[in-house]
Amino acid sequence: MNEARTPTGGAGGGTWAILVAAGSGARLGGDRPKAFAALAGRPLLAESLERLDGSDWIDAIVVAAPPEWEEPAILLAEELVASKVAAVVTGGETRAESVRAALEEVADDALVVLVHDAARPLVDDGVIGRVLTLLAEGVDGAIPGLPPSDTVKRVDGNRVVETLDRASLVAAQTPQAFVAHRLRAALEGDLTSATDCASLVERAGGTVGVVPGDPRLVKVTTRADLDLVERLLDAG
Ligand code: CTP
Ligand code: MG
Repeated sequence: MNEARTPTGGAGGGTWAILVAAGSGARLGGDRPKAFAALAGRPLLAESLERLDGSDWIDAIVVAAPPEWEEPAILLAEELVASKVAAVVTGGETRAESVRAALEEVADDALVVLVHDAARPLVDDGVIGRVLTLLAEGVDGAIPGLPPSDTVKRVDGNRVVETLDRASLVAAQTPQAFVAHRLRAALEGDLTSATDCASLVERAGGTVGVVPGDPRLVKVTTRADLDLVERLLDAG
């Protein structure tokens, strides 16, 4: 199924957001895909969708929904009056395949594509502005990164091979922003082992910059993460 709707905004040449929400949420468990797990009484997806729709940086949105959950995603967008949602597509087997499916619905004249995980509900204009501003300075991609708080080691089985220099490491978050044609080209190739879009753009020879991430952009993976995000939401 591929429910395309007409964009309401003047999105010509603008910035499109892809909201990937098609994962099953195996590590979270529960009776529904993670994007529809309850967060403060609403589907998890509602939080990021509402925030992207309300952002002046974003012109149009494509949501990748889990198979059989396209209709609930459309209804949710309608309920939220998320008028920038141009299409809801069926996601793929992997995150990268979901991005690829969503990209098909991004207008040909889009200049910039911002890819965001629905699993990171607390996206805001601060981080969106940082990645888009860096992108405008001439890189092919821009990602938020947070320095790891733990010491990180490279291992081989149960042996430590090397202790990495923490000063040169960041943990990659989303939203990640890309020059649209660079992202399209990167997604044409082999998608195996890609855990984020930036790695595909890097592999295709693109330049990717990093801006400060946001500790509030925790990715909901387990029940404990869901509780943490709920507390962060409560705290405002
Ligand atoms: N995602 C997607 N399509 C997939 C897999 C993941 O759109 N086939 C999305 C998820 O919905 C999520 C983001 O990519 O917003 C990050 O993935 P992850 O946190 O791993 O979510 P899940 O794959 O759903 O969780 P799990 O790995 O525990 O099954
Ligand atoms: Mg996953």
